[in-house]
Amino acid sequence: MVSFGVDYYPEHWPRGRWPIDARMMREAGIEVVRMGEFSWAKMEPAEGEFDFAWLDGAIAVLSKEGIKVVLGTPTATPPAWIIERNPEILPLDDSGMVRGFGGRHHDCQSSETYRNHVRRIVRAMARHFRDNPDVIGWQTDNELGNSHRNLCMCDSCKKAFRHWLKRRYGTIEALNEAWGTVFWSQTYSTFEQIPVPLPTPNSHNPSLLLDWKRFCSDLIVDFQKLQIDILKEECPGRVITHNYMGFFDKTNYFDLARDLDFISHNQYPLHFRKDRLPVAPPERLAAILDLMRGIKRKPFWIMEQQGGASGWETLSSTPRPGQLRLWTYQSIAHGADTVVYFRWRTCLYGTEQYWHGILPHSGEPGRRYHEIKKTIGELAPVMERFRDCGQGAEVAMVFSYEQEWAFQVQPHHFDFDYITHLMTYYAALYRTHVPVDMISDADDFSKYKVVIAPLMFLMTPELETKLRNYAARGGHLVLTMRTGVKNWTNIVVPHTLPGPLADVVGLKIHDYDCLWGVSQAVRWQDERCVTGPEPCAKWCDLITPSSARPLAYYTMDYYKDTPAVTENAYEKGMAYYAGTELPPTVMKAFISHVLAGAGVEPIIEAAPEGVEVTRRRGTKEDYVFVLNHNGTAVDLVFPARWQVLIGRELVRTDVLHLEPYEVVVCISE
Ligand code: GAL
Ligand code: ZN
Repeated sequence: MVSFGVDYYPEHWPRGRWPIDARMMREAGIEVVRMGEFSWAKMEPAEGEFDFAWLDGAIAVLSKEGIKVVLGTPTATPPAWIIERNPEILPLDDSGMVRGFGGRHHDCQSSETYRNHVRRIVRAMARHFRDNPDVIGWQTDNELGNSHRNLCMCDSCKKAFRHWLKRRYGTIEALNEAWGTVFWSQTYSTFEQIPVPLPTPNSHNPSLLLDWKRFCSDLIVDFQKLQIDILKEECPGRVITHNYMGFFDKTNYFDLARDLDFISHNQYPLHFRKDRLPVAPPERLAAILDLMRGIKRKPFWIMEQQGGASGWETLSSTPRPGQLRLWTYQSIAHGADTVVYFRWRTCLYGTEQYWHGILPHSGEPGRRYHEIKKTIGELAPVMERFRDCGQGAEVAMVFSYEQEWAFQVQPHHFDFDYITHLMTYYAALYRTHVPVDMISDADDFSKYKVVIAPLMFLMTPELETKLRNYAARGGHLVLTMRTGVKNWTNIVVPHTLPGPLADVVGLKIHDYDCLWGVSQAVRWQDERCVTGPEPCAKWCDLITPSSARPLAYYTMDYYKDTPAVTENAYEKGMAYYAGTELPPTVMKAFISHVLAGAGVEPIIEAAPEGVEVTRRRGTKEDYVFVLNHNGTAVDLVFPARWQVLIGRELVRTDVLHLEPYEVVVCISE
C-alpha cells in the first residue's frame, strides 16, 4: 500500500541525476513513481526492436530508495516511424482534416493496423516487467479520449460505427424507425449508407449524433480492454488503473472503469487558457472528486495532482503557499487513497516546458518541494485510517453521460450546459456542508435519504420505475425541467410532460419557455423562508399542479405567480420538481427545505464563506476535513465534539483559526 508518489520522466534527465532524484523523493516521503507512459520511441526505436534496459535501470535506482513503480503503456504517443510506415492511422477530425504527427494522440483507435502496433508494444512491455517485483501496477495509455474530442471520422471508424449500429439495431428498418429517418428523406436501405457526422450543409439527425457519442465512448472502452487483456495475461497479479480527467465527457467513465481495479484521476485546479477560469472553484473540484469516487463507488488514486504552475504556450498563476497542500487534503477528503504529484521536475523542452513540477527547471528543491514534503510528512502517519473509507453521504446526485451527451446534441439554450446545471445543486449542498455521492442511474438509490436526479431527459420504462419506487418507498426524490422528454434513441415521446411520472410529482407541464430574449425570475416561499425574486435563466417549465404544493413561483410575464418549484407527497416519500435552473439564493432555500424534510444533518451548522467542511467516514469515527480555500485568514466556531488530528496548534479554546489555504483534520465520534 502506497500513499504518495510522483510522475517521473527519467528519459528527460541524464542517468547521473537519477540517484539524486530518487534520494530526494525518498526524503520527501515518496513511495511510488508513475512513468513510461510517453516513451514508446525509446522502448521500441524500430519495429520489434525493444530496449527496456534504460527503464530497468531507472526502476533499480528507485528501488534502492524503496520506491515502487506504476508503468504507463505508451500508446498515447505512437512514434514517428509508425506514422511513416502507416500514415493511415492518423485521425480524421470533424472538419474532414487529417491531424498529423507532432503532438500526441495522433492515432485512430479503431484502426486494426494501429491496434496491432499497440498489441506488440503492450505485450513486450508486460512480458519484460512480469518478474520485476518493483512494478506494482499499470496505467493504460494516458487520459484516453484527450485530444480525441472531435476525432476520429476516418474510413475505419466509419466501418466500426456501422458495425456498432448493426449490433445495436439488428436491421436497417429498426434503425430507420428508431432514428426517425423519414424526416428530410434520410431513410437508409443499408447500413453502408450511414455517414459519420462530418459536416453537412446544416445539422445531423440528433439520434445519429447521440449514437455517435455512444459509439465513440464504447470504442475507447474497447481500446482499453485490448490492453488490459494483454496486461492480465502477460503480467498477472498487478493492479490496473487509468488516469481520468474529471468531468471530461468523451467516454462514459462508468463503462471505462468496468475492467479496472480502481480508477485514478488527474486534478489540476489551475488553468492557463482564456476559455476557463484561472482557478477552478473549490466546489467544482469537490464535485469532480465525488464523481471520481462514485465511478466505482470506492476510493481512488490521484495520478496527477497539481505540483506547480500549469502551462503550455501560456501559463497559469503559481500556486500560492499552502495551495498544493490544501488541494492534496481536498483530494484525500473526497476519497483519494493515494496522491501522485505531476511532475517531479519541470522539463527543459517540449510542449510542456512550462508545466511546472515539484522541482523547478534547475532541479534545486524550493518552496514547492518543501511544502509537499511537509504535507506528506503530516499525512503519511494517518493515511491508513482513511483507507477504503467513503464519505457516508445521505444525499446522492445522479450523473449520466447519456443525458449529458443528449444536451450537447441539443443544449436548448445557447448557454445551457449539463455540468453547470448539476453544479447549481451541488454548490448548494457543498455550501450547506452536506456530503454528496455522485452515482450512476444504475446504482442503488435505496440507501440515500435524498436522490437528486437532474435532467432525466432521456427516459426508459426501467428508469421511470426505479425513480417511482424510490419515492414510493420513502425516498426524497428531486426531479427537474426536461424530465421524460425523449426515449433512449433521442426522439420525443408524444405525452404531456413529464410523462408517466406525472402522478409521482403531482403535476403536468403543458407549456415551456426558452429564456432567449425574455426574462423571468423566481420567488421562494415556504414556512421558514421567503426569498427572491431572483432572475432565473435559460429555461422555464410552466407547471400545472394536480396534487403538488408550490414552493416557489415565477414572478413575471404571462405565467407570473405560477409554480416554479413544487413538492408532492407520494406514497411513503416525497417528490420535488424544479422547473427552471434556479438562482443561488432560491436554490439554497430549496436545498435547505429538501434536507430538512428528509432529516439530513450537515457536518457543521455554519462556516465562513470559502471554507469547505467535509469528511471521510471510518468504521468507528468520522474524519472531518476543514479546508480554507480563501487567500485570507478566517475563524470558525469549533464544535466541542471534534478532536484535532492534524493542525492542533490552530485551535484556541472554541475557535479554529485558519490561515490562508490552511487545513485541519479532526476526529468526530
Ligand atoms: C495531463 C496529462 C499529462 C500532462 C499534464 C499537463 O492532462 O496526463 O501527461 O500533459 O496534463 O498538461
Ligand atoms: Zn478513425
